[in-house]
Amino acid sequence: MFFRKKKASGELPAAVTIPAHVGIIMDGNGRWAKQRRLPRSAGHRAGAQNFRTITRYASRVGVKYLTVYAFSTENWSRPAEEVNALMGLFKDYLEEALRDFMDENIRVRFIGDVSAFSPELRALIHEVEEASAPKTGMVLNLAMNYGGRDELVRGAKLFAGEVKAGKREPEELTPELLSQYLYTAGQPDPDLIIRPSGEQRLSNFLLWQGAYAELVYFDILWPDFKTGDFDEAIRIYSQRQRRFGGV
Ligand code: IPE
Ligand code: IPE
Ligand code: MG
Repeated sequence: MFFRKKKASGELPAAVTIPAHVGIIMDGNGRWAKQRRLPRSAGHRAGAQNFRTITRYASRVGVKYLTVYAFSTENWSRPAEEVNALMGLFKDYLEEALRDFMDENIRVRFIGDVSAFSPELRALIHEVEEASAPKTGMVLNLAMNYGGRDELVRGAKLFAGEVKAGKREPEELTPELLSQYLYTAGQPDPDLIIRPSGEQRLSNFLLWQGAYAELVYFDILWPDFKTGDFDEAIRIYSQRQRRFGGV
C-alpha cells in the first residue's frame, strides 16, 4: 500500500497499539537536497537532524526498540565525496548523541560491521555504547555498515566456528538459535518497518528479523518526515491484521 502525505495531526488516540520494535529506512536525503538545489551532503545533514527528532519522539510514545538504517553495506559504492561527507556527519552526530540521548534514557547500540570505520569513529561508537549501556529506556539500534545478507553470513561463520571448536553440533541449529548469532540477538523482531521516500523495497534491511514485519511506505522524503507521519504509521499498523501464517 502507498500513503500520500497527510497533514501532521499530532495526537495518537489511546486505542492504537504501539509496536514494540520499529525499523526505519531513512531514505530520500539526496532527493530532498536536489529539490532545493543543494549538495547531497545538505540532505544528509537535514536527515540526521530529523533522525534526532523522530528518535526522541519514538521513545516518548513508548516504542521499546527502534532500529534506524543509516548506512548500508552497499552505500560504500557512492562517490567518495558523499561517503566522506557521511562519515563526517556520523562523527558530529555521535558526539551530539553523547549529550542528547543521555538525557533521554535511550540506550544506543550499533548493528553492522563497524570495523570498516575509521579508528576515530570506532572510538566514538564505543564511547556512545558504553555511556548509554546503563540506560533502561528505549533501545536504539543504529544500523551502520549494515546489510542483512552480511549479518547472516557473519552469524553463519560464528556458528560454524563454534561447531569447529566443539561447542555446538550442527543439528542444534534452529531459527531461534540462528537469531542469537545476529546483531539483534536477544531483541524482539521488528513489528513495523517504515520506509519514506517512495521506494518500496527493503534494500537489505533486517532480512531475517523482518520476516513478519508490517511494511508501511510513505511518499515523503526522510528530512520531511514528521512526528505526525510517525503517528500515521502507527495508526496504519494498528489497523493491520497480523496472521503469522495462521488464519
Ligand atoms: C538515505 O538517503 C541516506 C543514505 C542511504 C545514507 P539517500 O542518500 O539514499 O537519498 P536518495 O534516495 O538518493 O534521495
Ligand atoms: C537504503 O537506502 C539504505 C539506507 C537508507 C541507509 P538506499 O538509498 O541505499 O537504497 P536503494 O539504493 O534505493 O535500494
Ligand atoms: Mg536512497
